[in-house]
Amino acid sequence: MAHDNQKKDMVEWVKFNSETLVNHKIYCTGTTGRLVETVLQKKAKEKNDDYRVTRLKSGPLGGDLQLGALIAEEKIDVIFFFWDPMQPHPHDVDVKALLRIAVLYNIPCASNRSTADFLISSPLFLQEYKPRLKDYSQYIAREI
Ligand code: PGA
Repeated sequence: MAHDNQKKDMVEWVKFNSETLVNHKIYCTGTTGRLVETVLQKKAKEKNDDYRVTRLKSGPLGGDLQLGALIAEEKIDVIFFFWDPMQPHPHDVDVKALLRIAVLYNIPCASNRSTADFLISSPLFLQEYKPRLKDYSQYIAREI
């Protein structure tokens, strides 16, 4: 996902990494998803293939929270989220919730292009990787 001022950057980054990304299942917030899907469909067409991004709602309309829910269900392996450090957004609290749940579930999360470059070029990116989770059993079983 990318905030509006970062979408151009995201599209460039996706184009540059399309060979890799087209082999992965991608969830995006709505508007980012439309742009990312266009790029990856072009790439897939080169191989007579098709490609679909799973598009959630637009970020301000609940897409960030949908993504957070997917993280809590342990369905997300890595996040590329180019957020805008220079603008307040109506859904800042949703962004905070998303980033919190990503840390809680120990999900690698790139907030800018350099980190995204490091993540996608890591050998771990192409392997099965199970993030270690803290043991919350005592917390879950606590007496109230
Ligand atoms: P969008 O949402 O992809 O629908 O623009 C991103 C966001 O602003 O959180």
